[in-house]
Amino acid sequence: MSKNKFIPVAHPIFAGNEKKYVNECLDTVWISSVGKFIGLFEEAFARFCGVPFAVSCNNGTSALHLALMGLGVGSGDEVIVPTLTYIATANSVRYCNATPVFADSEPRTMNLDPERIEERITGKTKGIIVVHLYGHPCDMDPILAIARKHNLFVLEDAAEAHGALYRGTKVGGIGDAAIFSFFGNKIVTTGEGGMVTTRDGDLAQRMTLLRGQGMDPRRRYWFPIVGHNFRMTNIEAAIGLAQMENVELHLDNRRTVAGWYRKHLAKLTDWVTLPVEEAWARHSYWIYTILVNPAARIERDAFMQRLSEMGIETRPVFYPMHSMPPYREPDGTYPVAEDLAQRGVNLPAHGLLTEEDVAFIAEAIRIVCAGVEASSATAR
Ligand SMILES: Cc1ncc(COP(=O)(O)O)c(C=O)c1O
Repeated sequence: MSKNKFIPVAHPIFAGNEKKYVNECLDTVWISSVGKFIGLFEEAFARFCGVPFAVSCNNGTSALHLALMGLGVGSGDEVIVPTLTYIATANSVRYCNATPVFADSEPRTMNLDPERIEERITGKTKGIIVVHLYGHPCDMDPILAIARKHNLFVLEDAAEAHGALYRGTKVGGIGDAAIFSFFGNKIVTTGEGGMVTTRDGDLAQRMTLLRGQGMDPRRRYWFPIVGHNFRMTNIEAAIGLAQMENVELHLDNRRTVAGWYRKHLAKLTDWVTLPVEEAWARHSYWIYTILVNPAARIERDAFMQRLSEMGIETRPVFYPMHSMPPYREPDGTYPVAEDLAQRGVNLPAHGLLTEEDVAFIAEAIRIVCAGVEASSATAR
């Protein structure tokens, strides 16, 4: 294998009007959070998600915080969150002085298990945050049924799932609200940035007020509430609009990459488990997540280290929230999330990969697992 190859885990693509629109911001000096690109990006994103409202903000974490404030989460409330997620999902609940209550995942899609939700509901539960982890949508129908039965809101954390479909409907338009991240490694990027989408006009209005320091839109410097400065800049929105003009291309690229992985890893499925795409889902393949099987006879971290030595950057699946200091639950039992977190590896899935790169990654995985098998056979 080539010694000098380096395959990054993520890589943004600026193949359209990004530079042109950014230069327009600089030339017109509309560089802060006023300017035409904010509205244009919000409209394009709302249209893409099939919802009437999209409220931009400075990152996905703020989008979660904004949505929870807009949904009325406050002191003493509980919000059910999958333990297997990125820390921002849980932190946003804390920012509202509320408590994230964790639930286990289901093993196929790695998403919140609908069967594990009701046992976590108490008199204080206000809502559920579902996370479309790594781009695979959650099984929304049973979750929405539970939410209706207990009068709870459903917030979709779609930070990683732009363009994923649940039974033909785009994520972002299924729950009461949804959030997206536009960090540099995401399918659509603005550098840093976030968006909340919703069908609820009153919620959109509340969030717009909260995002802009709480300033009364009809009375300059009059602040009826305590708000935040969560605004996106016109420059970021300019990049976002250009990205949206090519969003179908960005999504197609990732599906193509996933197809190459399926083809090249097909012979290695004793050693690694490939990601599932349920019949009711369209995965957006933000990243390509595999599990290292016990038959591979190698620990996940050693597996990643070996790939790194061959020039392949990877990421471990997130640590479950209940295992980390801010949220530690020594007696918490989340066996599925723990198993996925211990064995999961995220492989590059960005649109600059070629089939040759994917074949190279598959061959590296074969060498790592076959090498371990050979050395353990010698040792016997
Ligand atoms: C599931 C999930 N939620 C929320 C976020 C927060 O987004 P941001 O990094 O834009 O604040 C991320 C970021 O990667 C994420 O993966």
